[in-house]
Amino acid sequence: MAATATPHLLGTPAERVEGRAKVTGAARYAAEHTPPGCAYAWPVPAGVACGRLTGVDITDAMAQPGAIAVLTPFNAPRFAAPPDDAELDVLQYDSVPHRGWYVALAVADTPENARAAAAAVRVTCAGHGDEPEPHDVVLAEDHPDAYTPEKANGGHPAHRERGDTAAAFASAPVRVDTGYRVPPLHNHPMEPHAATAHYAGGRLTVYDSCQGTGPVRAVLAALFDLPEDRVTVVAEHVGGGFGGKGTPRPHVVLAAMAAIHTGRPVKLALPRRHLPSVTGHRAPTLHRLRLGAETDGTLVSVSHEVTTHTSRVNEFVEQAAVPARVMYGSPHSLTTHRVVPLDVPSPSWMRAPGETPGMYALESAMDELAGALGMDPVDLRVRNDPATEPDSGRPFSSRHLVECLREGARRFGWDRRDPRPAAHREGPFLVGTGVAASTYPVLVSPSAASATAHPDGTFTVRVNATDIGTGARTVLAQVAAAALAVPLEAVRIEIGSTRLPRAPLAGGSSGTASWGWAVHRACEALTRTVARHAGPLPDGGLTATADTADEARRTPPYARHAFGAQFAEVRVDTVTGEVRVRRMLGVFAVGRVLNARTARSQLVGGMVMGLGMALTEHSTMDAAHGDFTECDLASYHVPAHADVPDIEAHWIDEDDTLLNPMGSKGVGEIGTTGAAAAIGNAVHHATGVRFRELPLTPDRVL
Ligand code: MOS
Repeated sequence: MAATATPHLLGTPAERVEGRAKVTGAARYAAEHTPPGCAYAWPVPAGVACGRLTGVDITDAMAQPGAIAVLTPFNAPRFAAPPDDAELDVLQYDSVPHRGWYVALAVADTPENARAAAAAVRVTCAGHGDEPEPHDVVLAEDHPDAYTPEKANGGHPAHRERGDTAAAFASAPVRVDTGYRVPPLHNHPMEPHAATAHYAGGRLTVYDSCQGTGPVRAVLAALFDLPEDRVTVVAEHVGGGFGGKGTPRPHVVLAAMAAIHTGRPVKLALPRRHLPSVTGHRAPTLHRLRLGAETDGTLVSVSHEVTTHTSRVNEFVEQAAVPARVMYGSPHSLTTHRVVPLDVPSPSWMRAPGETPGMYALESAMDELAGALGMDPVDLRVRNDPATEPDSGRPFSSRHLVECLREGARRFGWDRRDPRPAAHREGPFLVGTGVAASTYPVLVSPSAASATAHPDGTFTVRVNATDIGTGARTVLAQVAAAALAVPLEAVRIEIGSTRLPRAPLAGGSSGTASWGWAVHRACEALTRTVARHAGPLPDGGLTATADTADEARRTPPYARHAFGAQFAEVRVDTVTGEVRVRRMLGVFAVGRVLNARTARSQLVGGMVMGLGMALTEHSTMDAAHGDFTECDLASYHVPAHADVPDIEAHWIDEDDTLLNPMGSKGVGEIGTTGAAAAIGNAVHHATGVRFRELPLTPDRVL
């Protein structure tokens, strides 16, 4: 490295270091590893939502060309211990907890033969008598099995109240009592879930499409009774996750089981149509909101009550009332969750679980309140911006929601808005604009990392991070280069394997903060080590390690959240009922932005996902069959280019020294929060009609 080369500056829009490998096809994904002698597996989903298997006949399947094995609950190897996540307890018992649950696994010499063998498996099922048991898959507020759990997802108390919410609401001069419904939603990453497993010499090696190889290794080691150091899990490149790959999934357990059972490497690539039943979903949420305010807009009572569903085997409670604990000050506040266990697949994480549906409902209700008050919706939010976190009383490490609202309003041209609904017509179109706030917590987990200085002036940084398409690999190289005060080109980064220093998963918008903190510390330590070293570096270089176990776990006396403001303009076709988003603009306060290019991409991507939630995405729970109807990208409509207008994502300079050494907040999820509300509020402004159920498809709007 030339001594004059400029040290890297954090924040610059560096291009992805693996970009060339991806566009040339050199980057290999989990299903693109084919060890010699590789066999292929194809799982068999249950066709009923509730029942007991009376038989799984594998005679025809084993007679198919190339068939190697067919595993069923009656012949599959038993796990050493039951998994914590009951969705992983596959082929271990004969009852069916939901439709799509795997009841057999065919293994053959080619993918086609595995699929044919799977199709030849004869499954018989019974409940009482010869019929499958009736199933119950329909969520309703008044479902008799609804209960208030102790915790919602994320460890939040499910129920909490400050003051006397009902009394304060009853005596508030201005009141809004409203409700919203968000349907089940699915992550549909470009790369469906896949794993390639190889067991040889007492060692298990697995290539998995996942958000974190550490949790996958822990699960496989426990289920198959292997020491963790004999299990290696690799996820070098991952084609999207959004939460659906955040926890180990049945496919990787089945791939490992088949590899151990057959003694051959086994590849299992799920067809997209299996994903909705076995990779989690955002649970539907039914919201009731009651907001009471003084005539000047000051909130006196906030009540957000959520009803959601979970499966029979797992309790997962979408924490949709939690953002109301953070957003606005109010002396009286009730936030609570009820959950109904149904014969449905287990819900799980989907981009900003809790905040996404919760902020849709809360920010839509705030828009209704602004209407009831005759007040500008930006001003209403500014009026209720709290000085400290409403629930905990802790000061914010930084907040800047008001700055985001003001800057967004300025850039969007909000002051030119005619506040009257349904007042702007262009031919057959009604046009309107809306605003909503965004929020997401700042999370961080302990991580380890190592950094090595080589004699040729280059560096290698190792950390078991996972780049699920976010640009994590690039931003971690930037963090290292900045900490080492060297050019970006001098740093080589290794991620995506359990052979590397232990690190948490890519989830909760915490990856960059968690991994980057350890990388930063390892590079600081390396700088000191090199400075102490006399003479040329040894051939193997000098290595320093860091582990943030202590400092990242310390609970600070501050509330740490990212905030933002989103603005949308829509056009509603009065002939067809079609809603088109004309433009979206977000301004975010996310601490220090570490890579302007990849951060913008995350924020815009999140806003696009919010656009899909508002207008097109919807998983229908088919009450007759007890499963989700939309099982492909033709019926589950994620926004295509033609749906996505000009989207601008901006950020304000937020200098927060109370986070981590980089001063960063996460950017992965906040863009999704509030986006659907901004669009829904714009549709109300355009039409004068308040729609309370997503998505806003033409049949609902017309
Ligand atoms: Mo994301 S839902 O935090 O994996």
